[in-house]
Amino acid sequence: MEWVTLVLSAIVVVISLRLFLVKNPPNAPPCIKGWIPWFGAAFEFGQAPLHFIAQARARYGPVFTVLVAGKRLTFVTDHEDFQAFFMSKDVNFEQAVQEPVQNTASISKESFFKFHAASIALIKGKLTPGNTALLANHLCEEFNNHLENWGSKGSGCLNNLLRNVMYPAVMSNLLGKCNSPNGPAAIQEFVKRFSTYDDGFEYGSQLPAMFLKEWSSSKKWLLSLLESMIIRAVDIPSNESRSETLLQYLVTIIADKFQPNYGLLMLWASLANAIPITFWALAFILSNPAIYKSAMVQISSVLKDRDKKNTRVSLDDLQEIPYVKWCIMEAIRLRAPGAVTRRVVRPFKLQNYIIPSGDLLMLSPFWAHREPRYFTDPEDFKPERWEKADLRKNGFLEGFVAFGGGKNQCPGRWYAIMELHLFVALILYKFEFTLLDQVPEPSLLHLVGTQQPDRPCTVEYSHR
Ligand code: HEM
Repeated sequence: MEWVTLVLSAIVVVISLRLFLVKNPPNAPPCIKGWIPWFGAAFEFGQAPLHFIAQARARYGPVFTVLVAGKRLTFVTDHEDFQAFFMSKDVNFEQAVQEPVQNTASISKESFFKFHAASIALIKGKLTPGNTALLANHLCEEFNNHLENWGSKGSGCLNNLLRNVMYPAVMSNLLGKCNSPNGPAAIQEFVKRFSTYDDGFEYGSQLPAMFLKEWSSSKKWLLSLLESMIIRAVDIPSNESRSETLLQYLVTIIADKFQPNYGLLMLWASLANAIPITFWALAFILSNPAIYKSAMVQISSVLKDRDKKNTRVSLDDLQEIPYVKWCIMEAIRLRAPGAVTRRVVRPFKLQNYIIPSGDLLMLSPFWAHREPRYFTDPEDFKPERWEKADLRKNGFLEGFVAFGGGKNQCPGRWYAIMELHLFVALILYKFEFTLLDQVPEPSLLHLVGTQQPDRPCTVEYSHR
């Protein structure tokens, strides 16, 4: 046995040394290699990746590479280079995300390259601003029903309260009522499993499943849930009065055994970013009396004496409540995803550098939105900065990249904005809140997706 260990150790040492001694390619950006062969700067980077990016930028300039566990991550931080990041044919989205997708949703490489483009084209087509508008009334009904389960008053962790309402409501809206968890026990179980899966998503995308027991078991649970949803979606297409759901469309595109796995990815994409943003939007509004007052003036004047239990809010009403939409956009700006990524597939010229094929190219919307040339007083929550954006015509502010860009820009962005605008206007009309804790800071532990709060935030609520 001993000689086996010896040979294996020798192989590891040779591979590590080879990787460590490999020189940075000529004209490549400065490279932070760390001092442990192969691991590179994984330890320092993994502890607080968002802080690491800011420090590295200050030290090495706007383009730099970090060696992390055998991978070269090259960060692009100048707004002037973002167009090239999103539009160049030398970089590719699918090549960058295939491996993480295989780890998090168990979709084979072959299936991913065969069906990914078509499935995204379908989601994009079904969630255009026009199609999204058709989903609004049903979503409003669902929000009302689940919010009424809170009773006339109570208290709890704001993030959990929101998850208990928004997860089942959005699932009913996008996957069909029969596929939404029904009743308090089922909702609680779903919230627990999905939160575990979401919290560990970034680690799950990199590490073998054996290191993540609880996460793997939640993933298995969610996959079997999706399997039964697919059976229902295929078997009873006419069991609902509404038109077909996104899930029903999706199964017509995926012609292999991975249908539930694509379903899980779509479910994750539709819940994982939008719901933390709802938390932040409400936390920013509730903790700032002047902002709260401005929001309530518009909400009360438009919704006036609507029924407080089954409150109908239409898209026309929302057009008259733009201030809440500005709050949503400002919350997205400040808590934008840590990074979006592409794979360099041909040597890619940027500034005076040539970035080699194989590098993972990274752009951080979180830091891009803190650039004072584009956003004055970038750390301040200032909804009125969005007055300049043509939101009615679906325009964003220059420099805003929270939804990514190019042909892989988030296909759910119009749905997300409608969902959050509707929800925040509705909940503030129906309930009064008191914050019992200070607003948490964003946890800077993750690069994937929008930031989660770093600790619970308790609120007291009462029905108006
Ligand atoms: C505030 C909420 C949201 C934010 C900040 C957000 C952000 C993003 C970002 C940054 C990407 C990657 C884009 C790129 O690499 O260029 C993405 C992809 C995606 N998003 Fe969103 N998203 C949100 C909500 C949603 C919702 C509600 C849905 C579905 C209803 C959705 C569906 C998707 C899907 C399916 C992809 C994958 C696209 C692909 O594989 O090409 N997102 N999102």
